[in-house]
Amino acid sequence: MPANLDAPLVAREALPGPYALLTFAHAAVAREARAGQFVMIKAHTAPEPFLRRPFSIMAVDPGRGTFTLFLKGVGPGSRALIDMRVGETAGCLGPLGKPFEAPPPGAEALLVAGGYGVAPFYMFGEELRAQRRPFHLFYGGRTAPDLPLEEILIEGGYPLALSTDDGSRGTPGRVTVPLEAYLGAEGRQAVLYACGPDAMLHAVARVAQARGLAAQVSLDPWMGCGVGTCLGCVVKIQRPSDARPKWRPACTEGPVFDARDVVWS
Ligand SMILES: Cc1cc2nc3c(=O)[nH]c(=O)nc-3n(C[C@H](O)[C@H](O)[C@H](O)COP(=O)(O)OP(=O)(O)OC[C@H]3O[C@@H](n4cnc5c(N)ncnc54)[C@H](O)[C@@H]3O)c2cc1C
Ligand code: FES
Repeated sequence: MPANLDAPLVAREALPGPYALLTFAHAAVAREARAGQFVMIKAHTAPEPFLRRPFSIMAVDPGRGTFTLFLKGVGPGSRALIDMRVGETAGCLGPLGKPFEAPPPGAEALLVAGGYGVAPFYMFGEELRAQRRPFHLFYGGRTAPDLPLEEILIEGGYPLALSTDDGSRGTPGRVTVPLEAYLGAEGRQAVLYACGPDAMLHAVARVAQARGLAAQVSLDPWMGCGVGTCLGCVVKIQRPSDARPKWRPACTEGPVFDARDVVWS
């Protein structure tokens, strides 16, 4: 069950560029969250914005009762969180949404991340490792500074393939380039997981469809409430049982959806 708490910031690590790692005390999120779920959170220190913003849970420490977010400062909500000092509190509701589902036995999990979309895959990698499931993480950005979690992932022993659009780090080109090279020509038993910009999610869905692989994508719409009330986050979904596409709230029925069900715009 999600819990709504004033969560104190217990640790803050500024990363190069507009990025930071923030760790909050919130026992329910720390205890119950699974990879792919998110919190709705807002710093109490700033009047703006009025509404909380959604952020993926990157890591949890149930022993300490804390969870960590990986943030990119892009607007008032994310910047106010990044500017918080240890001891200050944020209004935080979570864990929310539907998590990623592990692949069936024998299938490898291929995690494809674009930009801040890498956040839930840190936690998913930990879950898969605990279940002794094989996985590989493809982490792409526009340029080398857009891969601020590279060092942390390498230190954590994540099997990692990096790529940048401008070729400044890893394989040059889109993140689907090393993904397709890894998949190779032979049929590999794998499930694809994607989190990042819409165009990237769609590209991963096309790779999966062309190879007859299952894929789960974490969609990134605007969210107002996070609990299915405002309908600000609806996305067009057509499940096999649906005669026609339906608008479904991504906060409660997602953010993770089967890529085959998403009606791409
Ligand atoms: C499930 C989920 C998980 C997420 N996880 C993370 C995460 O782990 N880390 C992370 O950094 N972010 C994450 N996000 C994204 C984050 O919630 C948004 O970037 C959020 O809007 C930031 O709030 P803000 O007030 O800082 O910026 P906002 O003012 O909301 O603006 C965010 C950005 O979008 C642009 N923008 C504003 N309005 C519009 C519009 N109408 N149409 C298109 N673009 C617009 C702005 O120019 C700005 O660049 C996640 C989003 C979702 C839905
Ligand atoms: S964010 Fe309000 S219904 Fe999804």
